[in-house]
Amino acid sequence: MGGGSSKNPGGSSGDQLYVSLKIENMDVKEELVPHVFGSIPIIGSWDSTRALSMERESALTWELSFVVPPNHGTLVFKFLLKPKDAESPCLVEEGEDRLLTGGKMEDESRSAVFKSPGFGQDELLAYRVFVIVDVISPFDLAASWRAYKENLRPSTVRGIPDISMNAAPEGCQENASAAVMELDLERYVVPSPTCASTGVYAANLAETPRSLGFAKCDVSSGSHNSCEVEFLKTDHTASDKVMPAAAGAVAAAAVADQMHGPKEDQCLAIVLVGLPARGKTFTAAKLTRYLRWLGHETKHFNVGKYRRLKHGVNQAADFFRGDNPEGVEARNEVAALAMEDMLSWMQEGGQVGVFDATNSTKQRRNMIMKLAEGKCKIIFLETICNDESIIERNIRLKIQQSPDYAEETDFEAGLHDFKERLANYGKVYEPVEEGSYVKMIDMVSGNGGQIQVNNISGYLPGRIVFFLVNTHLTPRPILLTRHGESQDNVRGRIGGDSILSEAGEIYSKKLANFIKKRLKSEKTASIWTSTLQRTILTATPIVGFPKIQWRALEEINSGACDGMTYEEIKRNMPEEYESRLKDKLRYRYPRGESYLDVIQRLEPVIIELERQRAPVVVISHQAVLRALYAYFADRPLKEIPQIEVPLHTIIEIQMGVTGVQEKRYKLID
Ligand code: F6P
Repeated sequence: MGGGSSKNPGGSSGDQLYVSLKIENMDVKEELVPHVFGSIPIIGSWDSTRALSMERESALTWELSFVVPPNHGTLVFKFLLKPKDAESPCLVEEGEDRLLTGGKMEDESRSAVFKSPGFGQDELLAYRVFVIVDVISPFDLAASWRAYKENLRPSTVRGIPDISMNAAPEGCQENASAAVMELDLERYVVPSPTCASTGVYAANLAETPRSLGFAKCDVSSGSHNSCEVEFLKTDHTASDKVMPAAAGAVAAAAVADQMHGPKEDQCLAIVLVGLPARGKTFTAAKLTRYLRWLGHETKHFNVGKYRRLKHGVNQAADFFRGDNPEGVEARNEVAALAMEDMLSWMQEGGQVGVFDATNSTKQRRNMIMKLAEGKCKIIFLETICNDESIIERNIRLKIQQSPDYAEETDFEAGLHDFKERLANYGKVYEPVEEGSYVKMIDMVSGNGGQIQVNNISGYLPGRIVFFLVNTHLTPRPILLTRHGESQDNVRGRIGGDSILSEAGEIYSKKLANFIKKRLKSEKTASIWTSTLQRTILTATPIVGFPKIQWRALEEINSGACDGMTYEEIKRNMPEEYESRLKDKLRYRYPRGESYLDVIQRLEPVIIELERQRAPVVVISHQAVLRALYAYFADRPLKEIPQIEVPLHTIIEIQMGVTGVQEKRYKLID
């Protein structure tokens, strides 16, 4: 029976193994879907409910493929047949576990044999098994990026394709004096100009309660400290026809909503649902940051913050019991206060409120829907996590970071109390089944999971779902840097497509050394540049990682002013110069772009940065990096054109469960 083939996986360093497992049966039973389950990390779990489904390749064959490093540990797995009706039990293949090491499967000619009482007296079902292993270069892997075709175009730098993987280029050996391999990266660390959101407990950054007598804040700053920042228009009401603080699709959708949509459809409340320690607050903070960056007026209302202000930080687990009427009333009261604040803010022009609480009973959600009736549309966003290890990690983070436990000096006592609180919530928890909802199931780990969507329509809800599908909390660094100094930088000319100056070339070599050192323990990473010479040349000395050119990463298009100095613009086009000074965010160069335009075109880049699990080095330009940095640092739109992004400096953004942290390295003084 059985047969198989596998090439000898050799290949050069950096290559990966593409493994394709196939099974074939002449007498296919349509009601049984072949799956694979087994040991971590590739196959996921010995839990049959999490088995990976094989894809139907033809009438008789099914396939599952994945990519692993050549030196991957032994993968232990088995095939499994899952009946389409969830009632009947799964069939696990007979015999020993299968072992795959270095792309080779032990005993690969052994068929997968299944026994079931349903097959008839002593009848067995046998599938032929094939393993095909191919060595795949990072270049080929990177080629899958062609999904982003619209952002790619052939290089303007001769000989460098838009997706490339370079070996160490000849003649690019280090200039000993300028680019000696520096091992101590800490030596280059410089302070960041702001302290942004460095690892702060996300709920603390939520909206400051007004209804409890705290400051009245402006509706459109998009800043955590929004009371301090005056933005585009602060005193408008919902009936004002203000221009949205956005360009492109966001602006078009906002205008359409204002003109045609019913009043309640102009405002949207994303109401979180879920037990404590399921990542609700981080999801709320992330979504708020994304929507603000796109130009939607968005605020995060955290009911826990209201509860702490009204009832103090020391509420023990009993307060959260479902059969404690005072506790239930007190919690409903603060939820209603937060809701009131959110609705008043919407009346003043706010667009999306992210309402962050457990909202874990139907009764609570009914109350919220009643309060919102005729005022805003509601989408429930339920976060479900079945992975005990993630829940345990979240619980521990909570004890360390939540103000609820700031005064608890005994960690174990805090842990015990919080687990009791969780159990109290668990007793009355009712998953969402009503209204419009999105359920994120096991999405936080970034290893699969799923999103269920019910009754969702419209531009903004669609975008929100797309964002949530792509986001995860796997820690990984993102390195942002401008290209090395260009010849146009030396001449003070904006735009253009010049090559590097001498200092710029030195930076490119230093940067390559930096990346080699910084990413030496990373299995994969990729280097993204724009399609302009100065970024491609800056990336040239970097070896061993795929490089991808994005058109979306090009510098702000300065249109009619391209190639001029700021002095020349002031002299020859004084009105343009003045208009830009007045509103640099919205100012659009004649036949060119504004910062708001740049933000719109960067959205696919942000989504891809969110989706990536491996480190990414982005080598781009001043205006583009200001916009990207603002997203991660949660800086208001209005500040973007002034953000400091100096030459020859790397901004490392660390994305992880405690939020976003930043570190800056200056390689050349
Ligand atoms: O001067 C370098 C540069 O990258 C120009 O090409 C670009 O027009 C400019 O920076 C963007 O910065 P600003 O918006 O401050 O003019």
